[in-house]
Amino acid sequence: MKIEASTIRLDGDPVLRMKAEEGHLPLAKQDAKLLNDLLSYVRHTHDEKYCEAHHLRASVGIAAPQVGISKKLLAVSIVGEQPQDTVELALANPIIISNSVQKAYLADGESCLSVVPDVKGIVPRYARITVRAYDLTAGRIVDIRLTDYPAIVMQHEIDHLYGLLYYDRIDKKNPDAPIPGAIVLG
Ligand code: NI
Repeated sequence: MKIEASTIRLDGDPVLRMKAEEGHLPLAKQDAKLLNDLLSYVRHTHDEKYCEAHHLRASVGIAAPQVGISKKLLAVSIVGEQPQDTVELALANPIIISNSVQKAYLADGESCLSVVPDVKGIVPRYARITVRAYDLTAGRIVDIRLTDYPAIVMQHEIDHLYGLLYYDRIDKKNPDAPIPGAIVLG
């Protein structure tokens, strides 16, 4: 699938509110291809010039429902300052198998390719999670420990597989109320 600006489903599209189906394992060729396409899309959006030329928004993750396919597939690409901080994952059927009690959130709130314009407010997330998923690169089911920003991104993408959008988690009455004990990022 060639993913372009017009491929991205926007808030209001029912597919964004559906619970996605499990990807059958071993992963079908078309699902593996979609995972690769999702990952390369996110990678491409790190290039400012490419974004300008193709009218794309910069991103760090995308889930299959955002391109109209209601399957539990997602890709994340976060380029860290140090090579060891870079997180690139293409996953099928991810589930959070454990999480910290401590919360974390982005000081400036979250954004999403499917939500335009941004909705402001604090989005509470777990500071640390362990995700179990079929990892395309490893070719098997793995447990992945994520902390801080990558953990937040992963929780945002997993939400897409359950029909949730980040603003669902913002306290409507008090969107900027800090969370006691939470890690505040960037
Ligand atoms: Ni999103």
